[in-house]
Amino acid sequence: MATTFFRTPDLLIMGTGSIKQIGEEAKKLGSSKALIVTDKIIVSTGLLDKVTKSLTDSGISFEINDEIVPEPPFEMLEEIKGKIIDKGFDLFIGIGGGSVLDSTKMLAIMMKNDMDVREMIGTNIIPTRGLPFILAPTTSGTGSEVTFNAIFTDNKTHVKRGIVSPYLLPDVAIVDAELTISMPASVTAATGMDALVHAVESYTAIRSDELNDGIALQAIKLISRSLRKAVYNGNNLKAREDMSMGSLLAGIALANAGVGAVHALAYPLGGKFKVPHGVSNSLLLPYVMKYNVVSEMEKFKEIAIALGENIEGLSTREAAEKAVESLGKLSRDIGIPTSLVEVGVRQEDLKELAAEAIKIERLLGNNPRKLTLKDIEEIYQNALDGGGPK
Ligand SMILES: NC(=O)c1ccc[n+]([C@@H]2O[C@H](COP(=O)([O-])OP(=O)(O)OC[C@H]3O[C@@H](n4cnc5c(N)ncnc54)[C@H](O)[C@@H]3O)[C@@H](O)[C@H]2O)c1
Ligand SMILES: [Fe+2]
Repeated sequence: MATTFFRTPDLLIMGTGSIKQIGEEAKKLGSSKALIVTDKIIVSTGLLDKVTKSLTDSGISFEINDEIVPEPPFEMLEEIKGKIIDKGFDLFIGIGGGSVLDSTKMLAIMMKNDMDVREMIGTNIIPTRGLPFILAPTTSGTGSEVTFNAIFTDNKTHVKRGIVSPYLLPDVAIVDAELTISMPASVTAATGMDALVHAVESYTAIRSDELNDGIALQAIKLISRSLRKAVYNGNNLKAREDMSMGSLLAGIALANAGVGAVHALAYPLGGKFKVPHGVSNSLLLPYVMKYNVVSEMEKFKEIAIALGENIEGLSTREAAEKAVESLGKLSRDIGIPTSLVEVGVRQEDLKELAAEAIKIERLLGNNPRKLTLKDIEEIYQNALDGGGPK
């Protein structure tokens, strides 16, 4: 067995209502003046009330910055840095979806490192730890609260770029399903599919191992049994709890085993066409899986079982193909676009998309089946008109 590494945050607090712990945890981290990093929609939902009460009860003063935007660009980080660097904060608290959590991570790093943030793109380039930070997700998707990645949009090249470093793991992650109840159905669908893609891709990844496999399969089970319910009735707390736990587990597996070609082909769609991360991943998932299935048939059979499919009497290959079909059905049921045309891509864009995707070696190298430029073009071509993988 190859040598592998496994990392998670110092402390993971989980459970409905657990956000009330935040003041106590902030105090344990020695904070007296915290900055809550969030966005305007989160502020309007009233979700911060429990956070601010808990901080006040623990005697911690705080300010709120609500300037994070979805799929955040590097420029936004620089603008916010200028406004907060001299204010004496000793702790950052990120309350929001992946866009807010990723931004909180990097802002914490930028408080202690003068380096240009773009120079930190890549793996293990951040020189030193930043301010302490606590993350609490309000979507059930990215798993950013347990990953050591942060993803931003490069507005010059229209490409999403990743920063990877153990310093991007929070001191404390708090996963409370109640924070996700206010998510609209479309965000629930897209972010939930992102989590499912994390689980499927990390389970079938080259870097997968026994530890992450168990975690990823449990994530697939929880997400597939509850995503439709959470989309159709956002107040279904049990479904929200499954989704919170499922995205957390998927995030742990993603962080440690990595993702593959679905994410690699999805990133250029996010950068150039501004397709939300969950939608681009979900749209491409069945097409990439159709390509991958022959390389990992046993594992795809296990995915079919975790998805709740009846595989009795089927050959391994038939069961594996059932998993691909099942993932496509789930995506359609919750109203996610199933063709590139629906998100504004035209035939003449495919070559440029493929040229961008082939550059993402970090992810393509972790995919169970190798891809050439021609393979990537064919997958995009299949996904252009939709109708399921050909
Ligand atoms: N760090 C990682 O490991 C990792 C992994 C995958 C994706 N990402 C990145 O995360 C970002 C996407 O994050 P996301 O999918 O969570 O979406 P998001 O954070 O962009 O949020 C989407 C929208 O939903 C709103 N929203 C969030 N929670 C809500 C709630 N409870 N109630 C009402 N509205 C709510 C937000 O205000 C926003 O408008 C992308 O930039 C992506 O590249 C990071
Ligand atoms: Fe993702």
